[in-house]
Amino acid sequence: RMLQVPTIAELRRHVGEARRQGKRIGFVPTMGYLHDGHLSLVKKARETCDFVVMSIFVNPLQFGPNEDFERYPRDIERDRELARSAGVDLLFTPSVEEMYPRQVLTTVSVAQVSEPLCGQSRPGHFDGVATVVLKLFHIVQPDAAFFGQKDAQQLAVISQMVEDLSVPVEIVPCPIVREPDGLAMSSRNVYLSPEERRQATVLYRSLKQAEAWLKEGVPLDEIKERMAAMITAEPLAEIDYVEVLTYPRLTPVHTASPGQRLIFALAVRFGRTRLIDNMMVTV
Ligand code: PAJ
Repeated sequence: RMLQVPTIAELRRHVGEARRQGKRIGFVPTMGYLHDGHLSLVKKARETCDFVVMSIFVNPLQFGPNEDFERYPRDIERDRELARSAGVDLLFTPSVEEMYPRQVLTTVSVAQVSEPLCGQSRPGHFDGVATVVLKLFHIVQPDAAFFGQKDAQQLAVISQMVEDLSVPVEIVPCPIVREPDGLAMSSRNVYLSPEERRQATVLYRSLKQAEAWLKEGVPLDEIKERMAAMITAEPLAEIDYVEVLTYPRLTPVHTASPGQRLIFALAVRFGRTRLIDNMMVTV
């Protein structure tokens, strides 16, 4: 039986009860419009936890003024059914008023790691993410929290925050779940027209190519150029960034040294839809 609660007080009551029963609490924060990527986090949580909490909250703090907060896809009925059958025990669906009854004056900002990649194209985005995630951690007080590597920079920002602030939660990274043709699952994929959807496979194709080029010893800067050329060859694609950085610190790198962990990361616009994808490699 899955319970759905809209208030912080009820959430705390139910999680408190589970904790008193000695249960290990797992937490999967989401913005809803659930797909198999989200559900893979629930599956992973169930493997190691006895009580799984999922939040669905489209967090206004992490959207810029000209971004898609208002039109972000929402379908709570469908989400509830998917969450229930995936094995969520408690679904937290607060309103914006419940989470932010008054103006928020306290924010969390993780320096450096928040700055490159999406930090450049979405100023303030990661402050909004870090702030809501720390708030959700304080509400749920989970033993472990599950994050997808689809949002690798978000994962790096949260891990840095948890370490810096000694937040008592274990952060568990989970692999990217893809469609059969390689497109990373995302709630935003529904925005794509059929033609954009076809061309969007170039993100994954360019990452696979990058991996092959890396093995052949092609220099990193040359790989970036070739990836950009591949993406630009799709007429509807407009590059936001194509980058290779160290992971998880996300510092620039020009020559790969053995044992180093790198991330190839990209953001590409198709019309009004911005898609991100990445690939982690250990050289
Ligand atoms: P959302 O985009 O709904 O994603 C929720 C979680 O699902 C994140 O950890 C994300 O990395 C993971 N996820 C999304 N697509 C995935 C895929 N294809 N494979 C694996 N995991 C995937 O990320 C957010 O919400 C928000 O920023 C949030 C952390 C909830 C804070 O508001």
